[in-house]
Amino acid sequence: MISENPKIGFIGFGEVAYHLSKGLKEEDIEQILAYTRSASKPIYLERAKDAGVELTSTLDELVTRSEIVISAVHGHVALDVAQDAARYIKEGSIFADLNNSTPPAKRQIAEAINAQGSKFVDIGLFEPPAHAGHKVLMYVSGDGAEQFKKIMSKYGFIIEALDGEPHKATIIKTLANIYMKGVQAVCLEVALSAHKAGIDLEILGPLVVRPVKDLPKDKELAFWAIRGGQSATRKTAELKDIVKTMKEWGIDPVMIEATIKRLNLIKEYKLQDHLNDDIPLDDYKAIVEAIDKTVRERGIDLR
Ligand SMILES: NC(=O)c1ccc[n+]([C@@H]2O[C@H](COP(=O)([O-])OP(=O)(O)OC[C@H]3O[C@@H](n4cnc5c(N)ncnc54)[C@H](OP(=O)(O)O)[C@@H]3O)[C@@H](O)[C@H]2O)c1
Repeated sequence: MISENPKIGFIGFGEVAYHLSKGLKEEDIEQILAYTRSASKPIYLERAKDAGVELTSTLDELVTRSEIVISAVHGHVALDVAQDAARYIKEGSIFADLNNSTPPAKRQIAEAINAQGSKFVDIGLFEPPAHAGHKVLMYVSGDGAEQFKKIMSKYGFIIEALDGEPHKATIIKTLANIYMKGVQAVCLEVALSAHKAGIDLEILGPLVVRPVKDLPKDKELAFWAIRGGQSATRKTAELKDIVKTMKEWGIDPVMIEATIKRLNLIKEYKLQDHLNDDIPLDDYKAIVEAIDKTVRERGIDLR
């Protein structure tokens, strides 16, 4: 049983755990514990004092004294940490994992936690707690998702609970990361190219958003996917010229060469055979459906 005012324990006490716990404390959560490997570092002592958090000296103590354990370590150690924590977790409690880890690792964590009679929650954070505090948008999945939402929404967490596989939140987070990290790399490549070409970013900023300036922000992904699909054949020649120009500027055209590679793959699907020129934005699935159809008809791989 989880109390109305749940006992919370964070594994890891970095940026995320600190900002979440500080906000939760302000919402009157009575007990917040945190365990981190190097708890005597001054930064952790200062954070703990500021956020009203009690640092425990062992993982065992943190887990056994908590009703909701939230793992906020690093993605590559999330599975090991969860398997360690599973040795101590109390039946009926919740283990939530917000690390940017992989879907298979999250599935294994769910299995380890469920095997102890406890519930698992996979959390995908969609804003940095350093900006939004504890009122960050989180997508959650797993057998504890609904219960976690019911309890933690009262304390300011903004939660969307998902049906389906336990690691679904991480699948969605991974997809969002492909977009966000890809955009970061493209923007850096544009910024470096502009620097070498002697053009100020202030000139470029308003120009690159012009094609989508009248679109709702949440339609941009569909817009660019449709544009890419429709113009794959025509665009690759143009992009080869851009590659040459970038090389003359002394820039490695990493993202643009990757774009050519992706568009060449899309070309194989001969989308023009299955698509109208004018695909409504709300019908962006038409691109994927057309690719699926070609793949089936021509017996080629979807890559
Ligand atoms: N920062 C964000 O805005 C954001 C957004 C979404 C998701 N995330 C995810 O949230 C997680 C935490 O991020 P963060 O920014 O808080 O990282 P961080 O500031 O680097 O803090 C990580 C914490 O985990 C501890 N830790 C690492 N390995 C551990 C282990 N094996 N056992 C116990 N504690 C361990 C670290 O302690 P030591 O000092 O001892 O190493 C540190 O206290 C990451 O998985 C990240 O991908 C972060």
